[in-house]
Amino acid sequence: MTNTKKRLLTGLQSSGTLHIGNYFGALKPFLDIYQDYDSYLMVADYHALTSLRDPAQLRQNIFNVVKDYLAVGVDPEKAVIFRQSDNQDHTELGWVLDCMVTVPFLMQAHSYKAKVDKGIEPNAGLFTYPMLQAADITLYDIDVVPVGEDQRQHLEYTREAVGKFNRAFGEVLKEPKEMILDGVGIVPGVDGQKMSKSYGNTIPLFGTKEEIEKAVMSIVTDSEGDRPENVYAIHKLLKSEDELAPLYEEKKGRYGDLKKALIEDLENFIAPMREKRNQITDDDVKSVLAEGVAKAKRTSGQTLKKVREAIGIDLG
Ligand code: TYM
Repeated sequence: MTNTKKRLLTGLQSSGTLHIGNYFGALKPFLDIYQDYDSYLMVADYHALTSLRDPAQLRQNIFNVVKDYLAVGVDPEKAVIFRQSDNQDHTELGWVLDCMVTVPFLMQAHSYKAKVDKGIEPNAGLFTYPMLQAADITLYDIDVVPVGEDQRQHLEYTREAVGKFNRAFGEVLKEPKEMILDGVGIVPGVDGQKMSKSYGNTIPLFGTKEEIEKAVMSIVTDSEGDRPENVYAIHKLLKSEDELAPLYEEKKGRYGDLKKALIEDLENFIAPMREKRNQITDDDVKSVLAEGVAKAKRTSGQTLKKVREAIGIDLG
């Protein structure tokens, strides 16, 4: 029987602790549809090396991200959960795609420019980051990539690299599309800006109750009207506007009470996943990753074989 399912992939960097922006922007959209696709969920650990120089931390983050994937409910029997560094096909195709695009093109990447603007040392890995990401996606003939708004350009870059490759060597690679859902493309942090590790404005996805309380109490509500918009924006991720309307009417102007209600709703949402996560061991992670990479390689190997033939590396 031929498999006609479309293919889905997303990846998260193991550069720190996942936050609710990662969850609502990328993981949940993946989770909601992944059983209808041939699905891949990757840990982008080589991408994390562009910003992290702490081996103990990177190792710990890798375990953590896989535990997070399992705890939010991704079934490793129904999605291929694997990490980038376990499959060398990624770095190999990444190199091939580097050779397809120009230096000025890569210099225009928002993510690269933002780091340079902040005075962060732009290592060459940061520069070619989008082509490693393009390899992550195209190796698996991916149709759809659920991501947050900040990844839109990386998908455009992927399509550009695919176009250049295919025009030069024939139709080998598939052009993927991003899936960015309304209302969750840019989840705001406690200061109202985009939630991001680097802004220090996150609500951790698997924080303790105390960490969640601390983060919510720090939500900026200066000089706002009846409704504290920064509290409401996060609350809306958990409950519908209709559900929230009576609460926000009753507690009008009482920011402290509304923050308490948000803490409770966050806790109710996170607690069951946190409990599940506590049962997952490092050995579970290792076995999920070992099975995952074996499956991943079966698919990526076929793509890479075609690529090697197309570019003339394969000597027959
Ligand atoms: P990363 O690790 O920065 O973020 C993981 C995912 O979370 C989304 N996200 C957000 N969505 C909404 N609101 C926010 N405040 C928010 N913050 C983060 C990101 O858009 C992303 O979808 N380059 C990628 C990792 C990657 C990848 C891939 C993704 C590597 N290879 C292949 C898809 C396909 C990244 O840095 O994501």
